[in-house]
Amino acid sequence: MYANGNPEKCYVFYPVCFRFYISEIKWYDRILLNRPLKVILALLVMSILVPVLIYRFLFFTSMDLPPSDGHSFGSCLVPRTARIPCGGGNIEQSECNSQCCYDLHNKLCFHRFPSRFSYLVPHSENWSEETVLTPRFPRTNPFNSERVVTSLRLSIDEISPTHLSIEVYDANVKSLYGRRIDNSTYVYRVSSPELNIIVNTTQGTIFNTIRGPLIASDNIWEMVFQLTEETMYGLGELPLKPGASKVIYSHDGGLSAVPLIFAKSNGSFHGLLVDVKTPSEIWVGDENQISLKSITKTGLKLHLFVGPEPKDIMRDVMSIIGQHKKWDYWMLGAHACSEVSDDDSEALALLNTFIGDANLPFDSHCGVKPIVFSSNGTEDAAMVEEGARALRRGTGNRKFVPHIAPYIRYVVENSTLDDVGSNTTEVGANDRNGEQNDDYAGAESTIVGSNATDVETNEDCTNIVCEFEDSMLQSPSGLYFGLVDDDKVVYPNYENVPDDFVDRLWTYDEEFHGVFLVNSWPVDQSEKTHNETAEMLPYFNNNFEAAFEDTPQWNANWSNGEYYFYGHNAYGSKFVNALEKTYNDTPIYSTSLWMKANAVVNRQNVPTSWTNLHKELIEAALGGISGHWLWSTPICGDTENIDVVNQAHLCVKWYLAGTYMPMIKIHSKGIRRDPSSFNTTERNIMTEALNTRLRLLPYINTVLQEGPLLRPMFYQYPNSDLDDLSTQFHVGDHLLIAPNLLPSQSHVHVRMPPGEWFEFTSGLKVDVGEGEIYTMTTTEADFVTLIRSRAIVVTQRDVRRSAELTRRNAAFSLTIAVGRIGIVTNGLKQWEFLHAAGSLYMSPNMTIVFDMNDNGLHITAEGDDFDVFCGTDPEVLWASRITEIKVYGLDDDQNNYDTHKHFNPNINLCDLQNEDIVFNILG
Ligand SMILES: *[C@@H]1O[C@H](CO)[C@@H](O)[C@H](O)[C@H]1NC(C)=O
Ligand SMILES: *[C@@H]1O[C@H](CO)[C@@H](O)[C@H](O)[C@H]1NC(C)=O
Ligand SMILES: *[C@@H]1O[C@H](CO)[C@@H](O)[C@H](O)[C@H]1NC(C)=O
Ligand SMILES: *[C@@H]1O[C@H](CO)[C@@H](O)[C@H](O)[C@H]1NC(C)=O
Ligand SMILES: *[C@@H]1O[C@H](CO)[C@@H](O)[C@H](O)[C@H]1NC(C)=O
Ligand SMILES: *[C@@H]1O[C@H](CO)[C@@H](O)[C@H](O)[C@H]1NC(C)=O
Ligand SMILES: *[C@@H]1O[C@H](CO)[C@@H](O)[C@H](O)[C@H]1NC(C)=O
Repeated sequence: MYANGNPEKCYVFYPVCFRFYISEIKWYDRILLNRPLKVILALLVMSILVPVLIYRFLFFTSMDLPPSDGHSFGSCLVPRTARIPCGGGNIEQSECNSQCCYDLHNKLCFHRFPSRFSYLVPHSENWSEETVLTPRFPRTNPFNSERVVTSLRLSIDEISPTHLSIEVYDANVKSLYGRRIDNSTYVYRVSSPELNIIVNTTQGTIFNTIRGPLIASDNIWEMVFQLTEETMYGLGELPLKPGASKVIYSHDGGLSAVPLIFAKSNGSFHGLLVDVKTPSEIWVGDENQISLKSITKTGLKLHLFVGPEPKDIMRDVMSIIGQHKKWDYWMLGAHACSEVSDDDSEALALLNTFIGDANLPFDSHCGVKPIVFSSNGTEDAAMVEEGARALRRGTGNRKFVPHIAPYIRYVVENSTLDDVGSNTTEVGANDRNGEQNDDYAGAESTIVGSNATDVETNEDCTNIVCEFEDSMLQSPSGLYFGLVDDDKVVYPNYENVPDDFVDRLWTYDEEFHGVFLVNSWPVDQSEKTHNETAEMLPYFNNNFEAAFEDTPQWNANWSNGEYYFYGHNAYGSKFVNALEKTYNDTPIYSTSLWMKANAVVNRQNVPTSWTNLHKELIEAALGGISGHWLWSTPICGDTENIDVVNQAHLCVKWYLAGTYMPMIKIHSKGIRRDPSSFNTTERNIMTEALNTRLRLLPYINTVLQEGPLLRPMFYQYPNSDLDDLSTQFHVGDHLLIAPNLLPSQSHVHVRMPPGEWFEFTSGLKVDVGEGEIYTMTTTEADFVTLIRSRAIVVTQRDVRRSAELTRRNAAFSLTIAVGRIGIVTNGLKQWEFLHAAGSLYMSPNMTIVFDMNDNGLHITAEGDDFDVFCGTDPEVLWASRITEIKVYGLDDDQNNYDTHKHFNPNINLCDLQNEDIVFNILG
């Protein structure tokens, strides 16, 4: 038993050996009488016994027979920080699989290193796309799942020189053949016989499955890998720290952006996108090991991006999820919605007051109240139409942008169908499920049938739910009913309804300009019995429970028998697709999107707190650089829990931060939070913040043509040590903001990036160097905004009541932050100007370019669509005069104001039709 030469065995049982050793009395006596020897012995005892005891308590191997397959033994001597939980992880020793190790002290079941749960490449061959991999243990897995996938295949698709995908899948379900290209910037190696995948670039190793577990069995697949030993960012975290655990299952409070991780190593970045449609959990271990567990039967897919900069990763991600590039200018103005009063006429009165408030700029409104379609389509028609008409008639050319939900309120009388709640059935090994995901955009894979017109409809029905009953979510006893705000609702399969289905739900006579798809996770507040779920799914924990809680019962099914939860993540996107098909040019905002950026992300149900203000900034910044440039955030939260008196200061700072968000929404749920619900001082600051945003929109709109608006520091300065900062953000290339993120915070600290900087509104020069901390005092109305030298930012001056009116009527102002270097000639110091630049995007065929150098300011037009600012109504969209120029960074004696030089020119941009404009600034 002691003689197998295995060192761990020795450690574990060493105390036994040791006792045997000291039983030789003569040795013992002599040593005890010899003082130096006694000390040496004591030290020896300490140095052997202490580690032995430590290890004794650290782990216990429940069974230590070498594996019968002759492959690697795997050691339990894994540093505590590097342990990968085996199965459920924190489980009883008796439940810990005998091929894993158990830490008695921490009650943790963990994988050996290398893990014994992996797959084998057959001895005779090297890996290729056709190779069928077999599990080392075909009859057991740490999750006690019923069936282990015995023939697995690995496909590596070389999609572009900087982008590859790695997919493991059940060979009995499909076959994939990855492409090969000859100009890739990565190399990979798949080792055999024990599977391990390593991807290298010139930066080093960017992906490594670290000989961790690869488990493929019924309803639980797991893959472990490491991207870097340094820092990671993503999944809503900046940085993404060890211990983080994220569930990919669309739900209230879940992820809004694609599940993308940016990993930094050796000064460059690479990225990983988790492309799994099924419910999944991503866990980050202490040494940056990432465990991906998914409740699937068919496979796991990852995309890997080489970088080397975050923007390269973003570009590659956008080749998968697409780009939402066309939007209307009014969408950059504030969108408002109110659900304060249950009484319809009161709500209509409130809407009219809102529209009439001359001090409140906004561009779109949801009307009287959010709309829930009803199987009795006539219910709310009058109210909805009144609201839309009020907006149309009111001043400001406001847009009607209703909020609609994917489910249908069920109000059919005399129904024989069962009540809310449904039967659960077991997840059998042989049930039908069409869960397959071959394309990048999981949202497009087919769930039911393949031809929407094939849907069988019931001709005798008097309502749309009955007519398309087969396309609705089912329970074992018939229609599945969910519960939303005490209403009984049904969930259509938007992939399996005819093209005019949505149009038929929209029974109102009024048209809309855009639409918010809300609660489209979708929500279902009916009571769930998770104890049964936990018994039927091999891996189910609190994280999943929270995600499953307010969504339809996981084991509801579509009429083809497929379990609902496999396709849940894509539900929101299917709703988007159905609307896109019906109203093709109408802008869509959606609470839930899956692997597609074909709508604006609508952040929904954000609680009102300082933590959430910070979180919204981080989410928007990370979302933007993940490809979701169009991103709407509710100002001051959008839940019912708000105290407008005690949280006024927070709301003020949130409105100020809203200036720099890509899109904003003022959503009063339960309690009003538009500026007019606060006291005069606060109201004025909030209104002024909305106006500042309107002034800045030309810049915001220009930035969004080319990239994300709000950006984390690591995106803008990938090779600096500003990476981990989540308290300051870049806004486009030219501006830097440092929000107040704590109650009663009177100072804001900014770690200065490279270059010279000025305070954006005053022109005050920031006099601390790169990497140093600049501290500014902030009052209630302050929001620290800096402009980079060599930048020209275009704003507008006299704002109107909406973004559209402002764009057309308010004259432009230029803020020029000069950059210059001092040159001494003949003992005289002279300044030489570095050129400063900026632009104003007006239309696809018209951009005004501003460039300043020693010779002054040059204005040129790129494109020939002069009608957008020089035409006649209705083509003219933009103002055409510049009536203010502010120049920062000159010498005091050149300034005519305290900190800057100020001009009030009258430049008519229409002159550009004849020739470029030159304006002398320095003379
Ligand atoms: C890489 O090669 C493919 C053809 O194999 C070609 O289409 C592509 O343009 C090349 N890309 C680069 C960046 O050279
Ligand atoms: C990847 O890089 C590591 C060290 O940087 C090296 O040991 C390993 O052999 C490389 N693997 C491949 C497939 O190039
Ligand atoms: C449908 O709505 C109308 C208007 O609210 C109501 O009069 C009618 O009773 C409703 N029908 C059903 C079946 O609920
Ligand atoms: C509903 O059922 C009641 C009693 O069963 C009946 O009197 C009534 O006419 C029914 N209403 C409809 C619309 O079928
Ligand atoms: C659940 O299923 C059983 C048998 O299949 C049936 O008798 C019962 O009515 C169902 N209950 C519900 C709430 O659907
Ligand atoms: C879908 O229906 C159309 C019209 O009925 C038919 O022409 C087409 O072949 C069908 N497509 C499939 C995939 O069944
Ligand atoms: C789950 O909980 C419900 C109510 O708490 C109970 O009625 C049911 O028997 C439980 N089911 C199992 C499988 O434990």
